[in-house]
Amino acid sequence: MKVFAGSSNLPLAEKIALLLNLKMGEVELSRFPNGEARVWIKDKDVNSRAIVVQSFSNPPDGYVMEFLLMVDALKRMGVKKIIAVIPWLGYCVQDKVFRYGEPLSSKVIARILQAIRVSKIITLDLHNETIAGFFDMNFEHLRGRNVFIDYFKKEKSIDCIVSPDVGALKNATFYAQELGLPLTVINKKRDLSSGKVSIVGISEEIRGKSVLIPDDFVSTGGTLIQAAKFLKENGVKNVYAALTHHFYVPGVQEKIEASQLDALFVTDTIKKPDKDYKKLKIVSVAKLVANSIKLK
Ligand code: R5P
Repeated sequence: MKVFAGSSNLPLAEKIALLLNLKMGEVELSRFPNGEARVWIKDKDVNSRAIVVQSFSNPPDGYVMEFLLMVDALKRMGVKKIIAVIPWLGYCVQDKVFRYGEPLSSKVIARILQAIRVSKIITLDLHNETIAGFFDMNFEHLRGRNVFIDYFKKEKSIDCIVSPDVGALKNATFYAQELGLPLTVINKKRDLSSGKVSIVGISEEIRGKSVLIPDDFVSTGGTLIQAAKFLKENGVKNVYAALTHHFYVPGVQEKIEASQLDALFVTDTIKKPDKDYKKLKIVSVAKLVANSIKLK
């Protein structure tokens, strides 16, 4: 078995391959002059099983298409069993029709992925766990919190877990239980048209404490920046955040660096831009993914 990496996250694919003691498959990825994805599996020694690693990060449409073409090319070479590692399953955030006239994007992406018939999909932190139910196939949903909880147990002293909104409460409760810490909830509102976030309150007194905000992803940074500002204005000593996916929307990490957040812990489900940032700390999910493949 070999690991074939799409162009979205080569470093993570290489880490997974190393941990599984597997070789990387040779693949050439480029674009036709009209912008269409061009895939060429150059490897001459392709087995009946393969792992394909591709995050549907930015540009999502390009990475989805590249992934679909890689799977098709491998199948045409006789590969029978393909494990698809999609660390960030793009389009999963639109998991409801919020307003009449909107699509159910997460179901559309599930249908597309089912149509290409891979043997298994491994992904991390879907925006909503019910999305897993859109897939009638072998589907494994891993949680980045497993790597963070181990990390925080050893590396950082936290007094309280702060859920950034009601949607994140279940996940935050898990952190609180595992780390043996109290839990409090921020009351957040987001304007559906502008996307602007405002914080209107918090459920407990947290003055003088070091708090950790767990969440699934950071996109515009609005939730984290507003939460950190609110918490600091309410006397919190240190504000840390742990999120599985960082979309690296241009300019967002710069805003986080200038914000009142003390440190942002993310995983490597999405490749970090080359630039280094003082407040950004990365914990790898490679072992979590490798173990889930190894154990099967
Ligand atoms: C909310 O439901 C999500 O889990 C995140 O809390 C949030 O949407 C992150 O987005 P942003 O960085 O744009 O605030």
